[in-house]
Amino acid sequence: MTQARQKHGKSVFIRTYGCQMNVYDSERMAGLLKPLGYGVVDAPDDADLVILNTCHIREKAAEKVYSELGRLKKIKTARASNGDEMVIAVAGCVAQAEGPEIIARAPMVDLVVGPQAYHQLPELLARAARECGDILATDFAVEEKFDRLAERQADGPAAFLTIQEGCDKFCTFCVVPYTRGAEVSRGVDAVTAEARSLAAQGVKEITLLGQNVNAWRGDAPAGDAGANSLWGLGELCRHLAKVDGLERIRFMTSHPRDMDDGLIAALGEEEKLMPYLHLPVQAGSDKILKAMNRGHTAATYIGQIAKIRAARPDIALSGDFIVGFPGETNEDFEATLALVEAVQYASAFSFKYSRRPGTPGAAMPGQVEESEKNQRLARLQACLEAQREGFNRAQIGAVLPVLFEKPGRHAGQLIGRSPYLQSVHVDAPQSMLGSIAPVRIEDVTPNALAGVLVRKAEAAA
Ligand code: SAH
Ligand code: SF4
Ligand code: F3S
Repeated sequence: MTQARQKHGKSVFIRTYGCQMNVYDSERMAGLLKPLGYGVVDAPDDADLVILNTCHIREKAAEKVYSELGRLKKIKTARASNGDEMVIAVAGCVAQAEGPEIIARAPMVDLVVGPQAYHQLPELLARAARECGDILATDFAVEEKFDRLAERQADGPAAFLTIQEGCDKFCTFCVVPYTRGAEVSRGVDAVTAEARSLAAQGVKEITLLGQNVNAWRGDAPAGDAGANSLWGLGELCRHLAKVDGLERIRFMTSHPRDMDDGLIAALGEEEKLMPYLHLPVQAGSDKILKAMNRGHTAATYIGQIAKIRAARPDIALSGDFIVGFPGETNEDFEATLALVEAVQYASAFSFKYSRRPGTPGAAMPGQVEESEKNQRLARLQACLEAQREGFNRAQIGAVLPVLFEKPGRHAGQLIGRSPYLQSVHVDAPQSMLGSIAPVRIEDVTPNALAGVLVRKAEAAA
């Protein structure tokens, strides 16, 4: 039995799939349910409420939900035979895209709630308890959602903060504009208040989130020197850098089309902005980029990278890639490899194109064979992996400031993050959790760096 049930409180289990936006949303759902008496548990078996916060980006991601629902059905049935109830809710992007289908295919689901409607969870749960039958809540009301979210509790020294939702770009492979709706930015004051509250609870690092985070726009706060002007992400970051206690600011995911000079200048000048940028390019062939409706070419992307590196020479770059988009020939794929060679990434995510119903790409001629996609992905990943390893190896001997986020696997060990978002394992006392300290990097393992604490005087020398 879980602790929460022993205390006679109710318990909720939340499984999160997909991107950081979903991680943030799951945290906020837990926050909304807390005043209703729900404690979070880490397995579904004893939970009164199970929420699957789902992702629709690729076919595999969406399929996982139905297999998980199959497993939950067994638990729910066993519980029912003991006279116990389990409420199952499907949230997130599959809920938005396939709500009615979920209800038809999975009758054990009680509640389907889209990413823009989860602030209504308390009412929806009350309705689910009153009414038999399924409840579908998939309307779009982003601003209302943020207004209704209670003060949040920080969990550790690094936190996500959603500042922008939705997407108007309509890349031809992507479901996000359909599942998350149009681009909406949260206001400066709301974002600043959330950042202040996190910092007051000991948060040192915030990662500003958005599907197109650098498309964020907001009115300058009243009374600001540049008032009445429209701010971009660069101005917002400079503003948040003034929040007492915040030491590090990151943002993701950026789109090349919205990478403006103001943001590049801020990356160069604002020390609290970490030297790490996730700027997905997807492909290196202009023909494919055009078919993807990306709105940039390989050359404009490479030009931007040069500008960014001129402003912040130590920046670590990361990207997303898709292989096997419809019409991609070997020659097009070679152009992706050439772009990767030209840019040199510190880390990257790469995927086989997945045909998503309702997106223009799904109906395009020239769909690429699975075996071909596999071969291309393997070649691309070998290149990207070599670059990642090279980037990590280059840190050996360097002294990097590390923010200690959690205990390591061994006693006396802590795990932290370098400015370049690398995981760093260090022998250090528990009392250093939540602090930033200089670490000399001594070794590289496949997924992390290992280092030793450096005394302040030595670090300054
Ligand atoms: N807003 C971000 C990315 C959002 S989705 C951007 O514009 O780059 C995260 C990543 O999933 C994308 O960058 C893309 O590489 C991948 N992706 C999206 N749709 C996909 C599909 N249909 N098949 C394979 N990968 C996909
Ligand atoms: Fe999807 Fe393109 Fe929007 Fe990114 S910019 S979320 S890839 S449509
Ligand atoms: Fe997936 Fe939705 Fe994020 S489709 S990647 S959870 S925006």
